[in-house]
Amino acid sequence: MDLKSQIILDKLPRHIAIIMDGNGRWAKQHGKPRVFGHRNGVKAVRETTEAAAELGIKYLTLYAFSTENWKRPKMEVNALMTLLVETIKNEIETLNKNDIRLHAIGDIAKLPKKSYIALQQGIEITKNNQRMTLILALNYSAKWEILEATRQLALQAKSGLLQPEAIDEDVFAGALSTKGIPDPELLIRTSGESRISNFLLWQIAYSELYFTPTLWPDFRKDHLYQAIIDFQHRERRFGKISEQLV
Ligand code: FPP
Repeated sequence: MDLKSQIILDKLPRHIAIIMDGNGRWAKQHGKPRVFGHRNGVKAVRETTEAAAELGIKYLTLYAFSTENWKRPKMEVNALMTLLVETIKNEIETLNKNDIRLHAIGDIAKLPKKSYIALQQGIEITKNNQRMTLILALNYSAKWEILEATRQLALQAKSGLLQPEAIDEDVFAGALSTKGIPDPELLIRTSGESRISNFLLWQIAYSELYFTPTLWPDFRKDHLYQAIIDFQHRERRFGKISEQLV
């Protein structure tokens, strides 16, 4: 039986988040500069987005650029920003045709102007699409996001608009950049690294983690199906015991 038909369609995660890792190592294996890995990573982005939408996943979040990634050589940062603009421009029609809404989380106002504008245009053009939301985490880090939320709530409390006792999980989640988006049930990281790297720390409190040795540019539909099948065989207890789960 092929992998896709092993997926239980009424047990799909609503939200899958992916740490796309291994582009540099993939390029090295092919004797090419790192940017070649990122360019081939776009193929994996396309395949994964298509596979997720076809299955009926509602939210797909891709970690495309962290706040720490600015520390990379300037040439690589520039190449990634250019690739972002190119990819959005090339893919926007396909996203629209497939009823996919583009969204972003992170400190996007600090992206280079061209990248920021392309991103905003993509978000605007696709804003009414319903089938799936593709969320790009750009200039994102979870610690940045948590601090921003804390500052926002502190300001509201200072001005008397919010009682500190009223701050519960829902209020806090509502101050995060993922407001309104369900937490990911499944987090995938490629390339064999077993780290979270400052990604969605609040939102993954109860996510199932899936680490695969596949380097991101090699990630294809079957790899996504395999991760979902693995997820569907896990027992998610949320602090309870097996016998309590009916
Ligand atoms: C991690 O691999 C990858 C990134 C930091 C960038 C991800 C970007 C893409 C897949 C292409 C553009 C995507 C979009 C959505 C336009 P790495 O460079 O850390 O690899 P390494 O660990 O092997 O060095």
